[in-house]
Amino acid sequence: MNPLRKFKNWYKDAKNEYTFDHTAFNLSTSYKNKPYSRMVLLKKILPDGFVFFTNIKSNKGKHFKSNNFLSMCFYWENLKKQIRIVGKGIVCDEKDSDDYFSTRIRGSQIGAWASKQSSEIENRSYLLKKFNQYSKKFKNKQVPRPKYWVGIKITPIEYEFWEGGEFRIHKREFYYLKNKIWQKKILSP
Ligand SMILES: Cc1cc2nc3c(=O)[nH]c(=O)nc-3n(C[C@H](O)[C@H](O)[C@H](O)COP(=O)(O)O)c2cc1C
Repeated sequence: MNPLRKFKNWYKDAKNEYTFDHTAFNLSTSYKNKPYSRMVLLKKILPDGFVFFTNIKSNKGKHFKSNNFLSMCFYWENLKKQIRIVGKGIVCDEKDSDDYFSTRIRGSQIGAWASKQSSEIENRSYLLKKFNQYSKKFKNKQVPRPKYWVGIKITPIEYEFWEGGEFRIHKREFYYLKNKIWQKKILSP
């Protein structure tokens, strides 16, 4: 089976079965030989990749600019399933980011202006002050997308599907590309 089709099947099951946000995944970047992980939300599944949105001036954006290999990891406890994907990221077209930004609720759009993600702030009231300033600035206007707020598309080069089994006899399927064709290996749990 094509691993993207398998991903979509598991993702659909997670949406139906899961009581929490099935779109959340752990994103790992690497910077100066150190790994960094944090949660983000999957917003689009395209034939050639997975898209999340972020502030490109954040720490993860800085990491991505120096090394565009990224790793994603989903875990859906109810299903006892994990999917790890390793891939290469690229910044999405401006229009794709504009389109998605326009679907966000107004408060989140203003929040994207107010927060210089990952930069140090004195206190939370500074952030609220910024939020109020931008609320006034965009009053009765459509909130434009800040140029630094972008989609990143991760095109997979490897997938691993893990399924919990009895007595730790879990199932692991590893997919990798050979001459642009997906190959599958079964791994010991
Ligand atoms: C469940 C969850 C979902 C999140 N989704 C996003 C997201 O889609 N985009 C994002 O930039 N940050 C998201 N965050 C915040 C990130 O985990 C992280 O704190 C932030 O992006 C700054 O990370 P950085 O300093 O490594 O760049 C989310 C956090 C949680 C807990």
